[in-house]
Amino acid sequence: MDRLQQTSLALGPASGRFDCHVVEPGRAVPSLEEDVREGLLFAPRSLPPKYFYDARGSVLFDRICETPEYYPTRTEDALLARCADAVIAEARPDHVIELGSGASRKTRHLLDAVERAGLRHCRYWPFDVCEPMLREAGERLLARHPWLRIDALVGDYLAGLDGLPRPEGRRLFVFLGSTIGNFEPQQARDFLAGLAACMGGRDSLLLGADRVKDPSVLEAAYNDAAGITADFNLNLLRVLNRELAADFELGAFRHRAVYDPSLQRIEMHLVSTCDQVVKFGHLGESLRLEAEEPILTEISRKFTRGSVDQLLHDAGLTAFAHHEPENGYFSLIHAQLSRVCHKHPL
Ligand code: SAH
Ligand code: TRP
Repeated sequence: MDRLQQTSLALGPASGRFDCHVVEPGRAVPSLEEDVREGLLFAPRSLPPKYFYDARGSVLFDRICETPEYYPTRTEDALLARCADAVIAEARPDHVIELGSGASRKTRHLLDAVERAGLRHCRYWPFDVCEPMLREAGERLLARHPWLRIDALVGDYLAGLDGLPRPEGRRLFVFLGSTIGNFEPQQARDFLAGLAACMGGRDSLLLGADRVKDPSVLEAAYNDAAGITADFNLNLLRVLNRELAADFELGAFRHRAVYDPSLQRIEMHLVSTCDQVVKFGHLGESLRLEAEEPILTEISRKFTRGSVDQLLHDAGLTAFAHHEPENGYFSLIHAQLSRVCHKHPL
């Protein structure tokens, strides 16, 4: 806990059950300015996805999850409802630590199962870059579970996980929403290996991974008819306008999401609709874009059972339970350190 800097004791009604801590970065992470200089000023252009999630972006993401086309949330939610008791029976957690927790909506199934299992001493540690979302999600969960204690962690999980608290007892790490698919292969491996380095023999990881399927289903999920995903993507430009005094015209860009079957991933772009020059007031730089020039804003890799097992293996983890719906649309994988796997159960 020493590396955590506590910012506030919060929340009127739930006073005493919610704390919010800042997780100090374990290594230097580039600032937005550095990411823009590195990724955006020269082609091929790209930006890291974490900048999507300001207060407005997090609300938009929550709305994406409700669109009829975006099947991953609904599928994972139903799957978690079905397997939560089994997961909790295996993990018997004293702490549930969730990375990129967002609105923590699906997590309620795990906490319901914790309650049914009589593990009411179990604490919840949601970790996210978006503090307003952590607070809102926290209030909702505290109202649902009068016994629950929440220690929210604000920070960047790519800055290393060394700054994470290491509370005593059995820990269930949770990484849902197929956010692992938003990492390049090497980054995903390093990230999971970093997580494995935080884990002990009695800890486990519940990982959500979206699966390879019909490209038309995949592409529809990232091109909802109501245009919420497009808004979410374009919101990145609002963040740049606000944070770096840039002058992006949102109307001069369009959202594009296409599945690349050879790389088994969705690629999300913002495409410049005309020749244009964008100025960054705070950087003293400008960006010249041609008509149809793309900026890569997100990848979303899709997995097979084999490829996700391999990814875990390469990170020193072994799956001991694999939950999937009948149509194989999504996987929830419960894994533990490979070096203790022969001792299963945990
Ligand atoms: N787990 C939720 C949300 C997934 S969206 C779900 O399954 O629906 C990804 C979440 O990760 C967002 O809440 C976002 O704010 C958070 N996030 C993205 N990049 C992050 C980073 N580098 N560090 C910490 N959180 C991050
Ligand atoms: N982890 C989510 C996914 O890959 C993130 C996501 C969903 C997303 N829809 C998006 C990211 C639209 C950017 C734009 O499915």
